[in-house]
Amino acid sequence: MTLALAIETSCDDTAAAVVDDALHVHSSVIESSIDQHRAFGGVVPEIAGRAHLATIGPVVRRALEDAGLDPHAPAIDVVAVTSGPGLIGSLLIGLSAAKAYALAWDKPFVGVNHLEGHLFAPLLERPDLDWPLVTLLVSGGHSMLVLQRGPGDHEVLGETIDDAAGEAYDKVARWLGLPYPGGPEIDRLAAQGSSKALKLPVSMTGAGFDFSFSGLKTAVVRATEKQRDVSLADVAASFQAAVAEQLLRKLRAVLEQREVRGVALAGGVAANSALRRGVEQLALEYAVPSYLPSLAMCTDNAAMIAAAGLHRFLKDGASDRSLSARPNWPLTELV
Ligand code: KG4
Ligand code: ZN
Repeated sequence: MTLALAIETSCDDTAAAVVDDALHVHSSVIESSIDQHRAFGGVVPEIAGRAHLATIGPVVRRALEDAGLDPHAPAIDVVAVTSGPGLIGSLLIGLSAAKAYALAWDKPFVGVNHLEGHLFAPLLERPDLDWPLVTLLVSGGHSMLVLQRGPGDHEVLGETIDDAAGEAYDKVARWLGLPYPGGPEIDRLAAQGSSKALKLPVSMTGAGFDFSFSGLKTAVVRATEKQRDVSLADVAASFQAAVAEQLLRKLRAVLEQREVRGVALAGGVAANSALRRGVEQLALEYAVPSYLPSLAMCTDNAAMIAAAGLHRFLKDGASDRSLSARPNWPLTELV
């Protein structure tokens, strides 16, 4: 058995987890600094960095203790850490900590791509899933459709050409005066509104699999300025339906054009109720299984980083100790 300790600090969550190579999660701890960012309407990198620095030690210690390991000399085989993409100040704290632990305990360490981590999340809960798989990875920073032929074997079919889906949620929520992060708020409000209240465009960005969300955000602003009496719930429902429709139309196009044996959702926006319902329906229609991770596995966590890190470590070996953080590390660089 190979056992990994993983650390994730790419954005506002400080997370650590212990996972083995059969993808059994021994522990998973998450401390979020989201409450400190709320007043600013988004994640403030400076605040995120300070919070990571304050909590990284205790979070790692708790992950080791929860897994029944000695926090001073844990019997692990590798330290995995998110080395990109993400906020540079946040990434550097996790990476420096991982290097220090690896050095102190004389263990190898491996840098992990955060997006590849998200792609491993469905696998942690469904180790039996079938390949190839099409995964809709939608978060605050990214929106992409990925064809996965096996663990770590992926092809990016399309991605957003402007804002990420979660970013669009957060920006529209801010315009409506809702607290950050806006996704869960809009999702909750949408349940009480009519999706037909506002006429919003579903941008299709041509025949490929790319997305675009910035036009939709502008359309919401224009429509609410014109129709001042429309309720918040109706705006939320109309916007949510337009986002889901665009994502689901592109997903349907993949199901039409590619041979896949399953559909998965990943990333923070995978918690969205309209998207989850739509993906389930689409999977039924195309007679393939759908893999919808639990809400805890959709959002940032270190268990998914451990899973991706174990795969990379067992396949490619350890990373060099001089590895640096890469705030814009694209998934397409990993083959
Ligand atoms: O993956 P994540 O935790 O962080 C990264 O961006 O990597 O995703 C956070 C994003 C935020 O934009 C948040 O508004 C969105 O996920 N989100 C949702 C929902 N829950 C979280 N968006 C729509 N509906 C939700 N229920
Ligand atoms: Zn993420």
